[in-house]
Amino acid sequence: MTTEEDKRLMEYLRDDMDITSLKNGCNGEGVCGACTILVDGRKTRACLLSTKKVNGKEIITVEGITEREKEIYTWAFAKAGAVQCGYCIPGMVISAKALLDKNLEPTPKDIKRAINGNLCRCTGYVKIEKAIDLAAKAFRDGVIPNESPSKGSIGERMDRVDAKEKVLGTGEYVDDMKMADMIYGSALRTKYPRALIKNIDISEALQHPEVEAILTAEDIPGKRYIGHLVKDWPALIKVGEETRYLGDAIALVAAKTKKGLNEVLSLIKADYEELKPLSSPQRSLEKDAPKIHSKGNILAHEVLERGNADEVIAQSKYKVKRQYSTPFTDHAFLEPESALAVREDDVITIYTSAQGAYDVQRECSELLGLPKEKVRAIVKLVGGGFGGKEDMSVQHHAALLAWYTYKPVKVTLTRQESIIVHPKRHAMEMEFTTACDENGKLTAMKATIIADTGAYASLGGPVLQRACTHAAGPYNYQNIYIDGKAVYTNNPPAGAFRGFGVTQTLFATECNLNLLAEKVGISPWEIRFRNAIKPGQELPNGQIADEGTAMKEVLLAVKEEYEKYPFVGIACGLKNTGLGVGVPDTGRCKISIIDGKAHIRSAAVCMGQGLATIAIQILCESTGISPEGVVVDPPDTAIAPNSGTSTASRQTLFTGEAIRRAALKLKKAMEHKSLEELNGEDFYGEYSPHTDPMGSNKLNPVSHVAYSYAAQVVILNEEGKVEKIVSANDIGKAINPKNLEGQLEGGAIMGLGYAITEDFPMENSIPFAQLKKLGLLRSNDVPEIECIIIEKNKDITAYGAKGIGELSAIPTAPAVQGAYLKYDGQFRNKLPLEGTPYNKKP
Ligand code: FES
Ligand code: FES
Repeated sequence: MTTEEDKRLMEYLRDDMDITSLKNGCNGEGVCGACTILVDGRKTRACLLSTKKVNGKEIITVEGITEREKEIYTWAFAKAGAVQCGYCIPGMVISAKALLDKNLEPTPKDIKRAINGNLCRCTGYVKIEKAIDLAAKAFRDGVIPNESPSKGSIGERMDRVDAKEKVLGTGEYVDDMKMADMIYGSALRTKYPRALIKNIDISEALQHPEVEAILTAEDIPGKRYIGHLVKDWPALIKVGEETRYLGDAIALVAAKTKKGLNEVLSLIKADYEELKPLSSPQRSLEKDAPKIHSKGNILAHEVLERGNADEVIAQSKYKVKRQYSTPFTDHAFLEPESALAVREDDVITIYTSAQGAYDVQRECSELLGLPKEKVRAIVKLVGGGFGGKEDMSVQHHAALLAWYTYKPVKVTLTRQESIIVHPKRHAMEMEFTTACDENGKLTAMKATIIADTGAYASLGGPVLQRACTHAAGPYNYQNIYIDGKAVYTNNPPAGAFRGFGVTQTLFATECNLNLLAEKVGISPWEIRFRNAIKPGQELPNGQIADEGTAMKEVLLAVKEEYEKYPFVGIACGLKNTGLGVGVPDTGRCKISIIDGKAHIRSAAVCMGQGLATIAIQILCESTGISPEGVVVDPPDTAIAPNSGTSTASRQTLFTGEAIRRAALKLKKAMEHKSLEELNGEDFYGEYSPHTDPMGSNKLNPVSHVAYSYAAQVVILNEEGKVEKIVSANDIGKAINPKNLEGQLEGGAIMGLGYAITEDFPMENSIPFAQLKKLGLLRSNDVPEIECIIIEKNKDITAYGAKGIGELSAIPTAPAVQGAYLKYDGQFRNKLPLEGTPYNKKP
């Protein structure tokens, strides 16, 4: 490489040379490894180097590996199921190459060490390590094993259809896009979490030669307040208004270059009157607390009551009452938020990384004051979401800047902005009382839950609901009283995060169960088995467990492992599939026949979970078409029907069933015509099951169309380190078991991080978290994971599939807590757990 320029190597490669396989996951923090390259054969990070340092040296990125290497790494990563969102994968491939170039017989430890500098938030590393092992073998043997082509049937371990583009870095994420005349946008954010904006002076900034536009609240043509469900989040704070958290934007800038953009931002002068932030729900609930929103400081209050918990608890033989505390955590998806908006006449097209194309369309059209059809949203590859890309973060700002400048505007958050701006997992303070009889049969539970919902509603209301509706666990007892509040503070907003509130409340319930078991004199496994919900029984919310319910089977599947080890913990979990509780929820799909191929068109977003592959398998199974005859088009509001947000573990069931229904219509049409003859025809499928609202007075309401169930066993070694996780899951039917294992492993490792290391430190509502301080686990931290899949559901809907994305992360933390209880007798009631070898705290 030779250049006269002296700039950051990553920018030079990505922006100037269009080499985009290396990714920008942390803007020069050197933490994520997504920008890993080889410089003269040595593995290094492009974000930490300047062009000056590498001038004249050989640089290798995935674009530059040999054709044979491309073939082997693509095959190995696809075969192992190592690719999910894909954002980390080119960096992983380079780390693998650095290892295998020197050592074609690596041990598992060598492989772990080789990728320890590369973060992956999706896979739990297990399958990536397997892929590197497979690649080593293929290089050693000089052959890639021959395999028969995939049929695309249900239950097949089909390779992901997006593996190749993600391994080779040819797949496009928003920040990889470039357009003629493209300019760059960003927001100036408040200096204080809570402050009165007294003045914004843009006069000097407007003089900068690179400025294209500076916008403030007055420039918003439509509704300034937006929000996924509750419209309480101003796109820009105006003069005279108070800020609510450190991520609040007060002005938007568009400039010709990234450098110019930062200069313009620094020239805007804002006058603030700094106000003391409300940094905890307790403070927000005090009588003299100022109101964060005009309606007050309580976003939502849920009371769930069945039977008479107080009376039954009083009469029960055994009871335990404990307080629990869980922290904010960051999704830490590897791809920071990015959007590119383009205006043509009065139509805005937004290329986005988001969990719902139609959500982007709705919110941006409201902000711009445009009819929905004038706003088109196209979701590019999404580098992870986990719930953190449901709210608007950059899309609305990009759209507004493009509206005014008539130029393509790209807005990409830095990692630090991403940490400050997007909603987190709710921190919760909880008090749980659980009671049982002399045989360990659960009788009642009572809980109070205070959730810190931060500055804006986001999905805080539904998260609180799920936290409450699932708090009693997957057990058969009927006396419950749960009082939950989601309280506004000046902390970052809290919203959707894999587990959706259940991760928190089941931590409390499951920990209480261990104490009850001890009192009864039975094992933690036994108390769960005695109470586990069976088909035909009532869940604590009154819903009758359906025939496909396999909670007992799940527990039996882990029994042997549980009983084998001394330092072992167990926990169960359940998670709904779909929005439920009477909220309209529809999966939609159109199959369009174009040039003899079946194009699956649905605006359901894959944020890494493998939706396109699942979609193909459902279509192929239903029609007999081979995978080569199917194309999955991207979520695009102009061509694909709205299939809802990728949330609530719903896409495999909801969009999957819509695809199945559309595919059956296509199959019927194929009885008389070939696919070629069907060119130009569309086949539509929709799935919209009924559920009953919260507070329904039905004896046995249907709160959710399906529940999945799980049990996890966590085994510690003599040193108190997690050695193995066994994850058994009732998922209905595995459409693609390889894909499913990836979800289970990734979820378990996310759950393990939640248990032992992840945190989001703040002081006075100012986060001082950085990517490297979030406590994300790396490959060296990952124990053995055994996944067990229980397929009992015989329902034909979506071939029996139920959701798994969230369930996989729910039981881990309490199972880890239970294992430490056995290990040292200490009952820990706070996450992340203290006094373990992972934090070295006393
Ligand atoms: S972008 Fe270079 S290490 Fe993260
Ligand atoms: S696949 Fe590794 S971060 Fe998503």
